[in-house]
Amino acid sequence: MCGIFGCVLKNGDAAPIIHAALKRLEYRGYDSVGEATIHEGRLLTKKGQGKIDEVHETYNLDALPGQIGIGHTRWATHGAPSRVNAHPHTDCSGKIAVVHNGIIENFSELKKELEERGHTFQSKTDTEIIPHIIEEELERNNTLVEAVHSAVERLNGSYAIAVISVKEPGKIVCVRKESPLVIGIAEDEVYCASDIPAFLPLTNNAVIVENGELVVLSDKGYEIRKIVDKSSVTRKPEVIDWDPAMAEKQGYPHFMLKEIHEQPFCIRNTLRLQEQYLELMTTFLDRAGEVFLVACGTSYHACLAASYMFSKLAMLATHPIIASEFVEQHGRAVNIDSVVLAVSQSGETADTLDAVECARQRAATVLGLTNIIGSTLTRVARAYVCQQSHPEIGVAATKTFTSQLSVLSQLALRLAKKRGKVSHVEIEQLEEKLEQIPDIVEGLIETQEEKIKQLAKKYRDKQCFFFLGRGVSSASALEGRLKLLEIAYAPALAYPAGESKHGPIGLIEPGFPVIFVCPSDGTRKTILGNIMEMKARGASIIAVVEEGDEGIKSLADDYLEIPPGLPEILSPIPYVIPLQLFAYYMAIERGCDPDQPRNLAKSVTVK
Ligand code: F6R
Repeated sequence: MCGIFGCVLKNGDAAPIIHAALKRLEYRGYDSVGEATIHEGRLLTKKGQGKIDEVHETYNLDALPGQIGIGHTRWATHGAPSRVNAHPHTDCSGKIAVVHNGIIENFSELKKELEERGHTFQSKTDTEIIPHIIEEELERNNTLVEAVHSAVERLNGSYAIAVISVKEPGKIVCVRKESPLVIGIAEDEVYCASDIPAFLPLTNNAVIVENGELVVLSDKGYEIRKIVDKSSVTRKPEVIDWDPAMAEKQGYPHFMLKEIHEQPFCIRNTLRLQEQYLELMTTFLDRAGEVFLVACGTSYHACLAASYMFSKLAMLATHPIIASEFVEQHGRAVNIDSVVLAVSQSGETADTLDAVECARQRAATVLGLTNIIGSTLTRVARAYVCQQSHPEIGVAATKTFTSQLSVLSQLALRLAKKRGKVSHVEIEQLEEKLEQIPDIVEGLIETQEEKIKQLAKKYRDKQCFFFLGRGVSSASALEGRLKLLEIAYAPALAYPAGESKHGPIGLIEPGFPVIFVCPSDGTRKTILGNIMEMKARGASIIAVVEEGDEGIKSLADDYLEIPPGLPEILSPIPYVIPLQLFAYYMAIERGCDPDQPRNLAKSVTVK
């Protein structure tokens, strides 16, 4: 995830302080780095692709004079990782520099307008439009604050930006909309940053900038005002008593828990994906003779859920395949009419890339869904879409799973629209529900987390678990099982519920915990039967169920509730969240480290 930093000093040079602060933001993940300072009326910049130490070795990041400056670690969202795409970005005159974390949704339109007015661009980033808009505003004799204010009013999307200009060389102007921004106050210095760890060794006095606020940093301190009405805001610094490790996790005890809580934000990001990429993917899917959805682990579970979405909405039959089996199972059958949609958070999983290579050799069209721009998958795919979850540090995939589901459901919806398979009214209702998912997820984490903690205490010593679901929920059941076994080391089985009586039910004895994922969709009636079968044999039933489903609740020993009214095909997004939290709290109860599960790697680059 991009990291921004800026500082105004009364004495000394900003560059070494920026360099050290960027090092402290490294944990967020990045692919390139850069900084800009102002010295004697000139804007000076340095940037490069790669790790901070590598860029420092080539360019010496400490050797830039100037008491004011901004810096950035970039995690590519628009445009591949490269020196030219690295921040800071500047205007035509080279007098304004901007660093940015977030996504500007309307950058293509704004870039076109700016080009028509004679602006030239160096990079492929969405960010570069910002200094050019500010340039125009400054030419209208606005102050830097006014210019930044007017510029951000034209931006749609999410952003935390920091701007410097030689026109007012003693100031950093920063603005926050959704992407995080904090201010650090030391005796002779002020800082702005994406995250508290960036300045924690320098000061523990921090001011959290709220959405829609603009902040001016200068040697006089900081001033906050609201974008909406320019009114000034008084906010005193708070003392942060986190140690550096806690600060990286924003106060959460583990990255996994932080990432579970980040899901509303990440899903909101995926709802801002560039239309043209989704449209391109949809066109390929529409023309395909057959579609394979290829992935490993959690990403495979997203594919499995997607196969229900494509079938139910767009009437497209797809084959979800575990990547390591693809070559054996379908290698010889793939041909020029096949489309292989490879789903990989890292874009580097060896088995997935192997399947992709096989498909390419047989002239199939390869599409990619990944979280990492610049990964191998983005280079070998004919078209790809980035799921915009930001880096995931916890080894167990959580936020990247729900983002994948969100992208795949958007693809299924588009395809349904294109094929005329679903009425306009239904499409609109589904789109509306999809927009509400981030709030629903936020609400359910808030209401269910404490209950899940207690549930983990109750079931912590159980030897084995069953996860059952029907239809699209069988994918959620498989994912819940994977989370529990990989981080809490609890042996667990998962099946489509209908299959449970073809063998697995033999394991059931009194007290055996069976977790049912049972939204009130078309499968409810049959899953009710499966619950009864398990209950008759003494199983302890834990149901993840729709609020108000008294029938299932009365059969369950314990239940977790999800708000009602969710369309079936979107249900895996909220229904998996209690299962992620259950796995997390089970790991805690069983004394396991959820961020570092044994024997597992975040990216599996061997076959
Ligand atoms: C489970 C998990 C793994 C990955 C799998 C695929 O929590 O993280 O199962 O989902 O290794 O990784 P990607 O999506 O990077 O191809």
